[in-house]
Amino acid sequence: MATPVENGESVAVPDHLLEIQDLHAYYGQSHILQGVSLTVGREPLALLGRNGMGKTTLCQALVGLVPAVRGSARFDGRELVGRRPHEIASAGIGYVPQGRRIFPSLTVEEHLRLVARRESGRQNGWTPERVYELFSRLAERRRHRAGALSGGEQQMLAIGRALLTNPRLLIMDEPSEGLAPVVVEHLIEVLRQLSTQGLAMLVVEQRLAVATALAERIAIMVTGRIVLETTASALLADPAIQQQYLGVSPRREVA
Ligand SMILES: Nc1ncnc2c1ncn2[C@@H]1O[C@H](COP(=O)(O)OP(=O)(O)OP(=O)(O)O)[C@@H](O)[C@H]1O
Ligand SMILES: [Mg+2]
Repeated sequence: MATPVENGESVAVPDHLLEIQDLHAYYGQSHILQGVSLTVGREPLALLGRNGMGKTTLCQALVGLVPAVRGSARFDGRELVGRRPHEIASAGIGYVPQGRRIFPSLTVEEHLRLVARRESGRQNGWTPERVYELFSRLAERRRHRAGALSGGEQQMLAIGRALLTNPRLLIMDEPSEGLAPVVVEHLIEVLRQLSTQGLAMLVVEQRLAVATALAERIAIMVTGRIVLETTASALLADPAIQQQYLGVSPRREVA
């Protein structure tokens, strides 16, 4: 913690936007998060790991959808553990869940208006119009039911919906899952743009090429613990580490 002195008083300012320390979570008797410690600052962080390692559980614990039983997760210095999902969203964390979780029978416009209405008290924030500027494809599809959208369009909608809560940190769980390479390229471009504009990001990814295109900081999870923190360049240059922790074959590296 940095503690600058302001007007003679010591004010605690966290070094990182998100500081996770020794976080534990269970599903019934299964100990899934076994002491996760990780920080996220202004720079995007990609979290990698094989199937079933606990990446989604970590995301859900951070946004209050799974109870953390031990440890702490501080966002901007304030504890998230024990708070409810809507409080965490209001605190400034946007969540894009794995599999998008959109409502098939609602239109694009209805999805966005629903969130925008809830958030309408805020000044200078995200609006549906700004989301349409970011994703012109969504503007074209605004009257379509979400269930009729392509996977890529659904992902854009899930991201747009999260942006409308005006987050300072966006947590995305496998945004590229099931999407065609050309759609993934577009998504990477937009996410980079948002990052440049100051939005912090924690991105869970299975695809090494996507993770390393989005983030220079990389963390790897194995059975509910962070076993390695590295950089995109170091990871790309080390096939042995890729094989050990991710089981990446050259074929899977293609985004
Ligand atoms: N609702 C649940 N009830 C019981 N066990 C669960 C539940 N959800 C996940 N698990 C188990 O918790 C472990 C971690 O799952 P999690 O979904 O967090 O992994 P993941 O790293 O996100 O995997 P993937 O890459 O497949 O998305 C797995 O063993 C999984 O089977
Ligand atoms: Mg998952």
